[in-house]
Amino acid sequence: MAKTLLLLFALLTLFSRITHQQELFFEGFNGGEAAANMSLNGGAVIHQGGTLGLTNDTKRVLGHAFYSTPIQFKNKSKVVSFSTAFAFAIVPQYPTLGGHGFAFTISPSKDLPNGYPSQYMGLLGPKNVGNFSNHLFAVEFDTVQDFEFGDINDNHVGINLNNMASNKSVKATLNLKSGKVIQAWVDYHSSKNQLEVRLSQTSTKPNSPILSYEVDLSPILQHSMYVGFSSSTGLLASSHYILGWSFNINNNNGDYAKTLSLKNLPPLPSRDKPHRRALILGLSLSASIFLLCSIAVPFYLIRKLRNAEVIEPWELEVGPHRFRYKELKKATRNFHHKNMLGFGGFGAVFKGTLESNTEIAVKRVSHDSKQGFQEFVSEIETIGRLRHRNLVQLLGWCRNRADLLLVYDFMPNGSLDKHLFEDSARKTLTWEQRFKIVKGVASGLLYLHEEWEQTVIHRDIKAGNVLLDGDMNARLGDFGLAKLYDRGSNPSTTRVVGTLGYLAPELTKTGRPSTSSDVYAFGALLLEVVCGRRPVEAKAMPEELLLVEWVWERWRVGAVLEVLDSKLGGIYDVVEVVVVIKLGLLCSCEVPEMRPSMRQVVRFLEGEVPLPEVIPPPDGFGAGKGVGTAYGGNTWLSAVDDDVEDGSGLSVLLSGTGDEGR
Ligand SMILES: *[C@@H]1O[C@H](CO)[C@@H](O)[C@H](O)[C@H]1NC(C)=O
Ligand SMILES: *[C@@H]1O[C@H](CO)[C@@H](O)[C@H](O)[C@H]1NC(C)=O
Ligand SMILES: *[C@@H]1O[C@H](CO)[C@@H](O)[C@H](O)[C@H]1NC(C)=O
Ligand SMILES: *[C@@H]1O[C@H](CO)[C@@H](O)[C@H](O)[C@H]1NC(C)=O
Ligand SMILES: *[C@@H]1O[C@H](CO)[C@@H](O)[C@H](O)[C@H]1NC(C)=O
Repeated sequence: MAKTLLLLFALLTLFSRITHQQELFFEGFNGGEAAANMSLNGGAVIHQGGTLGLTNDTKRVLGHAFYSTPIQFKNKSKVVSFSTAFAFAIVPQYPTLGGHGFAFTISPSKDLPNGYPSQYMGLLGPKNVGNFSNHLFAVEFDTVQDFEFGDINDNHVGINLNNMASNKSVKATLNLKSGKVIQAWVDYHSSKNQLEVRLSQTSTKPNSPILSYEVDLSPILQHSMYVGFSSSTGLLASSHYILGWSFNINNNNGDYAKTLSLKNLPPLPSRDKPHRRALILGLSLSASIFLLCSIAVPFYLIRKLRNAEVIEPWELEVGPHRFRYKELKKATRNFHHKNMLGFGGFGAVFKGTLESNTEIAVKRVSHDSKQGFQEFVSEIETIGRLRHRNLVQLLGWCRNRADLLLVYDFMPNGSLDKHLFEDSARKTLTWEQRFKIVKGVASGLLYLHEEWEQTVIHRDIKAGNVLLDGDMNARLGDFGLAKLYDRGSNPSTTRVVGTLGYLAPELTKTGRPSTSSDVYAFGALLLEVVCGRRPVEAKAMPEELLLVEWVWERWRVGAVLEVLDSKLGGIYDVVEVVVVIKLGLLCSCEVPEMRPSMRQVVRFLEGEVPLPEVIPPPDGFGAGKGVGTAYGGNTWLSAVDDDVEDGSGLSVLLSGTGDEGR
């Protein structure tokens, strides 16, 4: 009986603890009380002055700080009104580049075990993002534009429901990452199903919200939830601080959380030196312990630093990051020539094996370091966010003086040109494989052109840049690089980057690459795959020099199957072959406007739409021009740099008109 009573009493006190804990007010988090009520994990710490730090300048860390007792959010099944105000400061490592951001969070747990750093802000991870069973509500203060989640810019406030893609977001009216203290108010009116966010640099609550969103949170939140903050850093880091917090949960809409008076808040911590405290501690101990420490501490620190640099396999999933030069040197056995896979568009490529046994390909690009470091990092982050099953994934990078190292997924079957042109012991590609490769490249290129937030022009589509994974799926490599490469060069002299035979004729005139110049190069690739020949063949008979003209000529006289690669041994699907040849010719059209878009190309290849009956002659062939003139006359041929790559065609660097710089 006594036991039952005790249990009842315990339950009652627990219950009252949950229901009656309705107002929180922290002007700083100093003193045992506040600290005792906050549950911290990850990189979160309470600094000496009383400021709560969620993250610091360390890369790829997350920090959580939640009120340690759950709060009752529902009356029956309806979420009641709630209101909060908090003062924060975001101090980025590099003044103009934020390191992700933080979010006011209401969550079923206070340690968010599925949270990843970087763009996930410690809230969710790739496996549960968007899942309704997350029951997660967050107001994000985001300082990085993540295209993956449709971010509007790199300085916005968004409402996230179970997801990292915001249900509603607005550009912030203040610079969130200015390093200055900003107060934010979040109010939910249950009767109106209205959520409002306000921002100010003062202690006065503004009349008008910057964001107002009509939403019933009842399906999102559960009865009992934790409230607090979550934050993370990525490749770039920021220190995220919360200086004060007030929260109020109520059932009548009049009661708002108390506004914070900024002058009562603790100061921002000065950047403290990392291991000083540990050393001071060591010094204050007795001599023998000191001796022990002086051996143990550095040992511990070295180990810790080492561990911090070891890249976990999951990190590779999250986004590109910076590798240590030493690590890549070791992985590639000091860039040993035996590990060299070949020359790609911009430099030599080496095979490597990380300590985690992950196989990688390391591209070593010599880079002129005129380009600003921050700009360069942003660019790499952008390239790294491009994700598609037909693209070679960029895993990370490293910069060591004039060397720029880019780390990619390793592709065990090498590049397409080797399979097409090298008479080694390799098995010849079957028609089925070739058709699958062609469709894969088309799908990857469509993603770059149309399916991503920004249009990415590849600029160097060719067989040497099509890599084959373990299942012989095509993966496009070197995307995004041309732009990066160009950044460092003088804008008044545009360089046309590309490969002879794949260069659209208009490129040599305007120097301005476009999606249709990529389509032109893709056309050349299609013909190459069918014919098993390079677009420009030095050894061929003069009339066969340019592949596209030869194919067109055969097409015209009705003998198109003569162009097929003899290595196919006559085994192929004639309908598919004709589609690929016709499409190759269509994409090779001299007039850019007459070439199909990649979306149309994909439809043609999938057989969703039939190809037009009449194909215009490529490169003004019908106008009776001779060989050579087809690519815009011979004038520029003399300008071909003899910067010859791996025999997969001639690489061309031309001085252009500078149109692109406009
Ligand atoms: C924090 O916890 C203490 C008990 O440890 C309690 O007395 C106090 O009211 C709490 N403070 C807040 C602001 O919740
Ligand atoms: C930053 O936070 C990490 C943990 O997240 C910690 O290991 C490191 O010591 C902190 N650095 C500083 C300078 O406080
Ligand atoms: C729950 O809501 C009802 C109205 O729907 C209200 O009468 C009641 O007081 C609320 N209960 C609590 C505990 O606030
Ligand atoms: C959502 O999460 C639940 C629980 O973790 C899991 O069982 C379910 O499969 C997930 N749903 C999806 C679509 O991933
Ligand atoms: C919020 O957005 C997600 C997709 O990002 C969507 O599934 C969900 O229905 C949206 N929720 C509301 C309440 O609009």
